[in-house]
This record gives sequence, structure tokens and C-alpha cells, in this order.
Amino acid sequence: MKPRNLKRVALAAALAGLATASIAADLAPLPEPKFNAKQAELGRYFFFDERMSGDAALSCATCHNPQKGWSDGMPLSKGYPASEYFRNSPTIVNSGFKKRFMWDGRLDGADMGTLVRDMMTEAHTMNMDGRLAQERVKQVPEYVEMWQTAVKKGDDPNGMRIFNIIGEFVKSVNSKNAPIDRFLKGDQSALNGTQREGYELFKGKANCVSCHNGPIGSDGSLHRTGVPENPAITADPLRHITMLRHYSTSGMPNYMNTHVDVGSYAITKDPKDKGKFATPSLRDLKYTAPYMHNGMFATLDEVVEFYSKGGGAGSELKALDLSSSEKRALVAFLESLSGDPVVVEKPKLPAYKVRAFGKN
Ligand code: HEC
Ligand code: HEC
Repeated sequence: MKPRNLKRVALAAALAGLATASIAADLAPLPEPKFNAKQAELGRYFFFDERMSGDAALSCATCHNPQKGWSDGMPLSKGYPASEYFRNSPTIVNSGFKKRFMWDGRLDGADMGTLVRDMMTEAHTMNMDGRLAQERVKQVPEYVEMWQTAVKKGDDPNGMRIFNIIGEFVKSVNSKNAPIDRFLKGDQSALNGTQREGYELFKGKANCVSCHNGPIGSDGSLHRTGVPENPAITADPLRHITMLRHYSTSGMPNYMNTHVDVGSYAITKDPKDKGKFATPSLRDLKYTAPYMHNGMFATLDEVVEFYSKGGGAGSELKALDLSSSEKRALVAFLESLSGDPVVVEKPKLPAYKVRAFGKN
């Protein structure tokens, strides 16, 4: 087995254990983020730099655009040129607090470097090679200089480190000033009456909190809510190609006979995980429509309507039969989980310049 496959097997085992873990808890205020500020500053340049993709046409910000809630505003993400992706591009805001990354939870939230490596090197996102990234960075004198401050004096840009440096920038992108944080820290007036009613429903009758808890509103576990299939996945050969390629890399049995997104099953291979996805964060929803792994809901009203009916086919949820004022209260509460827009400008990118001779 190749090392990469071995790693996937270990991940599958970790995920299988997670599927059952669920702690009854409440939401919590967002803690202070932890990141290396010097590396995050260099990472900001790399995040916006199109030269980090194989054909120098896409940067991380193409699909995680600060002006679109650090997502791309589309139901399903466009992939690398000539491909199309089969899932929604999630916001990266507050992702330093995630327990698992990706809609199917396939990556460990503690390992941002691996996540960035996958985003950059996978053929369907940025199709970039770590060694090529390293040589490109070395031919930009300003980057070599910034590297000395961010990493170590005398150190030369290195492919693996580039992933971690972008990761430090991602960890620095966090929302601030959400009404819910002020409320949880004791300011009763931070939520209005309707929002407080929504919070009671969230913790009580609607029991959203059983899955959406902790600082970002996610238990980090896998659940089946039965979101309807996005017909664009079944209909579009380009999206199919990317999906089947993902299944075959994950070693999913009999993958050619699947036309739908099976979620975490492709990773764990446990039939109980068919159609399960990792609970997403509920922060900054104001900026990140459309919702769910396949962007099937355009508004929070549609999401709450879906939960009121008990979710979709095969869901583990019960119908809530919420009244229209209860639905309004829940939506108003969800909005209170959004902070101020996180504004980061694209820096002016330094140009290539042939480098003087140096050590390997
Ligand atoms: C072509 C579009 C595209 C590009 C370019 C891209 N991403 Fe993503 N990103 C996605 C999609 C789609 C997902 C979700 C994939 C899945 O769940 O299967 C994702 C997932 C993520 C996540 C996990 C978020 C979560 O909630 O689990 C982070 C963090 C992230 N990307 C950061 C980056 C960084 C950093 C870069 C640049 C190195 C990057 N992305 C480049 C589309 C893209
Ligand atoms: C059994 C666990 C569970 C419960 C209970 C639950 N959710 Fe979810 N929630 C999830 C999962 C899993 C997803 C992702 C589903 C997908 O993408 O297919 C999700 C997605 C969402 C999203 C979309 C987030 C995004 O960024 O796309 C919102 C909003 C949401 N839930 C709100 C609620 C509300 C409000 C309630 C209570 C009425 C609730 N949830 C109850 C597990 C749960």
C-alpha cells in the first residue's frame, strides 16, 4: 500500500470512532485565535497569489473570496480549469477552530498544513506541485526576503513549509463582534427578544444544539440530515468525473455504480455512514449562502423549513412542526451568530525576477 493510502485507512478508523461521539452542550464564545503572526503575514500573500496554482490562474481566494464570505457564492464549486467540483466551497472563516475539515470530515482539524497541501496539490483544485511552488517562490526576491523574517534568517523557501505558512494565514481569519459572543459573555441586550426566543428553541424544542454546539456551533461529528441531491451532480459528466475520482482515490468499493454524493461513507467504508456529513459551523451564515454540502438551500428560511419537516429521506431528525413565528425566531437567532464582515485586501503581489545563484 502506498503511504498515502495507509494514511487514508488510519483516517477512516479515526472517523468511524467519531461518528457516535456527541456531547450534550451549549454554544460557547469564540476563543482567541492562535497563529504565528509573522508567518500569517507572508501566508496572506500566498493565499491571494495565483502563481500557487499549476496554471497560475487560481488562488485560494478564487474559491474562498473575502468579498463572498470567504466562499465563492455558488451552490457547487468550480474546480481547476476543465473540471467542476461536486461540493459547495465552504467559508474558511474560523476554520482554525474546526475539529474536522471537509464536508465529509476526511481531514483532522488540528492539521491545517495537510489540508492546505491537499487544496494546492489535488488535480481538481489547484493542481500544483510542492516543488514547483518552492522554485516559483524563490524567483520572487520580495518573497525570499519576507521568508527570512517569517521563518528563519538564512532559510530558503521550502515546498512543505509553504503549506504551513498559508495555514497560519487561514488560522488568522476569524470573525469578530458577533452578537452571540457578547450575549454569552453576559450582555443580555446583545440579542433582541425574537433572537432570545430563537436561542431557546435552538437549545430546547428544536434541539439544534445536540449537533451544533461549542464555539463555532459544530460537534465535529458525522450526521445524516437527508439534504436532497443536487441534480447538477447527477447530470454533469464533469462533476461526475471529479466525484468518481475522489471515490476511487478513497478506495470506495463498487464506486462506479454510484451517481450520488455518499458523503463520509467514501472515507470510512462503513455502510452506516452513507449520506452522512460533518456538522458545519453556524458562524457567519449571513455571508455564506447557499447552504449545505451541495448548496441546495438558498436561504436560512429554506434551511429552517427543512428542519421543521424533520429533514429529508433517511434523516436521523424528527419533525419539529414549527409555527411561522418560531421559524422566524430561529432564523433571527442564526443571524446573531454572524460577526462583522472579515475584510482582508488582496496585497500587491511582487513580480518574478531571475534569482542570483545560491545553495540548493
Ligand atoms: C477550485 C476551488 C478551490 C480552491 C482553489 C481552494 N479551495 Fe479550499 N475548498 C474548496 C472546496 C470545494 C472545499 C470542500 C471540499 C470537500 O468538502 O470535499 C474546500 C475546503 C477548504 C477548507 C476546509 C473548510 C471546512 O470547513 O472544512 C479550507 C480551510 C480550505 N478549503 C482552504 C483553502 C486554501 C488555503 C486554499 C489555497 C491553498 C484553497 N482552499 C483553495 C474549494 C477550493
Ligand atoms: C443530527 C445533527 C444535527 C441537528 C440536530 C441539526 N443539524 Fe444543522 N447540520 C447538520 C449537518 C450534518 C449539516 C450538513 C448537512 C449537509 O451538508 O448535507 C447541517 C447543516 C446546517 C446548516 C447549513 C450550514 C452551512 O454552512 O451550509 C444550517 C444553517 C443548520 N444546519 C442549522 C440547523 C438548525 C437551525 C437546527 C435546528 C433546527 C439544526 N441545524 C439541527 C447536523 C445537524
